[in-house]
Amino acid sequence: MPKVRFLKERLEVDVPDGTTILQAAVKAGAPEGDRCGGVCACSTCHVYVVKGFDDTSEIEDEEFDILDKAFDVRMESRLGCQAKIHGDVDVVISDESFQAFLDEHPDDAEKARAQRAAVADAAALDADTPGE
Ligand code: FES
Repeated sequence: MPKVRFLKERLEVDVPDGTTILQAAVKAGAPEGDRCGGVCACSTCHVYVVKGFDDTSEIEDEEFDILDKAFDVRMESRLGCQAKIHGDVDVVISDESFQAFLDEHPDDAEKARAQRAAVADAAALDADTPGE
């Protein structure tokens, strides 16, 4: 089963082949936006596949069209609702998508912010610790 890691949250989940990144985010409890409900119409599920990009499904024209509307699009950009997983991948949820999640889930916003802050603090501590 492919493993999906959401790096900014330090969450990981095993999912069946063919699962979308958005479905994996829901399963893992990762804060990824999905304003249109996963029908390739909003770009709020914009993520970066920083490892394992070749183990995701091909990008269709419709996805390219919607990605055009996203902010800070990069070579590793995908729409989480369209990218199917066929191997282990590392994913960074874009700031745009994270903000959309906060807007869509106000009851979970504080927890999501705290989770990201804790991971960022731990990463900074790791970087400051010689020999680790
Ligand atoms: S959830 Fe709207 S494009 Fe993916």
